Amino acid sequence: MVDVKICVGTNCSFKGSLDILEYLESDESLSETIRISTHSCFNKACKPNNAPVVMVQDELILKATLDKILLKIREKL
Ligand code: FES
Repeated sequence: MVDVKICVGTNCSFKGSLDILEYLESDESLSETIRISTHSCFNKACKPNNAPVVMVQDELILKATLDKILLKIREKL
């Protein structure tokens, strides 16, 4: 299982993190592979230019997109 923590704080929600969360939760092909949780803010990485921020295992992804997240999940498997 790969841990995926999605920031749902103000900056990140504003930049689309809730859409990412919704997509990852609804993709059944990932349900056996990832464990999704939400995070209120990755304080040190919290800058408007970095949002949305997502952590995959121990790595922060800045300006996260679905492509970047899915690639990182594959690397961690
Ligand atoms: S709101 Fe997402 S890192 Fe702070």
